[in-house]
Amino acid sequence: MNIILLGPPGAGKGTLSSKIIDRLGAVQIATGDIFRYNISNKTELGMKAKSYMDRGDLVPDELTIDLVWDAFDKVEDREERIVLFDGFPRNLDQAKALDKGMAERNTEVGKVVYFDVADNILIERITGRRVCPDCGATYHITNSKPSKEGVCDKCGGELIQRNDDNEETVKNRISVYNDFTSPLIDYYKKAGKLIKIDGAKTPEEVFNEFNDKLGK
Ligand code: AP5
Ligand code: ZN
Repeated sequence: MNIILLGPPGAGKGTLSSKIIDRLGAVQIATGDIFRYNISNKTELGMKAKSYMDRGDLVPDELTIDLVWDAFDKVEDREERIVLFDGFPRNLDQAKALDKGMAERNTEVGKVVYFDVADNILIERITGRRVCPDCGATYHITNSKPSKEGVCDKCGGELIQRNDDNEETVKNRISVYNDFTSPLIDYYKKAGKLIKIDGAKTPEEVFNEFNDKLGK
């Protein structure tokens, strides 16, 4: 089943993705991760995307939509497993492009998981986030500390703060979300695909709520 994770920056999309991948064998297509991979490898796409990401603006659709299909078309056994879209679509044009491309592939968006979280929680989560550039693991300076400060538990890599995780950029990311991405809540509600989750709960509770609601 194709599942979209829809929510503001810091809502916990990446955190829930990791649990669904580990426990339900899902595969993930995370556009932000694909862009960051391209930036660290200094590809042409990375060079083009960087300034938008550093400001917290959306990367233009013409750089985004094709890479989603490249990734989706490489997923093996995709009809039998969960394919998670994390961070895509982020505006109405992307949502329409997704519907069209899915129809061309004789499949569809199954469910859309919407994370409901207040802005003050988002800012606290994002400014306190630390990530491992080597394995992608995510931590938080108070909510989810590594056993040794600054070091990844999974691979021993040195934890860093993302370039766009400062307060000023986060505020712009939240406003971009409100202007361009939040209309998708209604779009998918009307399509009867929306599942609303209380993203302010603990990561384990969020996973349980996802699992319960998906089963219904
Ligand atoms: P992207 O990488 O997608 O970032 P985002 O949407 O801003 O989301 P985040 O990764 O910040 O948050 P998250 O919801 O995954 O939270 P997480 O689980 O890590 O996009 C970055 C940029 O790329 C965009 O600004 C844009 O420029 C570009 N881009 C990407 N996709 C695009 C597209 N489709 N079109 C155009 N441009 C695009 O959690 C955050 C923190 O909180 C962590 O520290 C975590 O430990 C903690 N936490 C998580 N859940 C909980 C919980 N339940 N309780 C307590 N703490 C928690
Ligand atoms: Zn690591």
